[in-house]
Amino acid sequence: MTDQTAIWVRICTLNEIPVGKAKGFTINGQMLAIARCADEPFVTQGTCSHMFFPLGGSKVEDCSLVCGLHRSKFDMRDGSVQEWSVFPPMIGAALAAIRKSKSLRTYPTKVEDGNVFIQWPGSTPESIKVKF
Ligand code: FES
Repeated sequence: MTDQTAIWVRICTLNEIPVGKAKGFTINGQMLAIARCADEPFVTQGTCSHMFFPLGGSKVEDCSLVCGLHRSKFDMRDGSVQEWSVFPPMIGAALAAIRKSKSLRTYPTKVEDGNVFIQWPGSTPESIKVKF
């Protein structure tokens, strides 16, 4: 394992994160999703841990993110699975068996003066490109 430093990188303002919906973005080409739970932002991996459907645009309610494809439901705060592939009826259950339930990866975030930051491996902010 390499020893890599991490820095805080500004992503956007808190107000740019829609209420009730996750927003997709990339950091250095890596897909991520950001959503808010009240006034706290949370960042997860950008694709679903079930069958890799993009999570940008997913519905968010009560701090849970729901994948638009088979409606697996994840706690935004720690990425844990709350429901696993429940849609469509019958078929969702069959698809649930394809892959064992797996939490989403989450990333540390903080808010300062209304700006949202993510902790990301790197040594200088210039080496890290955030793109919506
Ligand atoms: S791809 Fe997300 S629940 Fe199946």
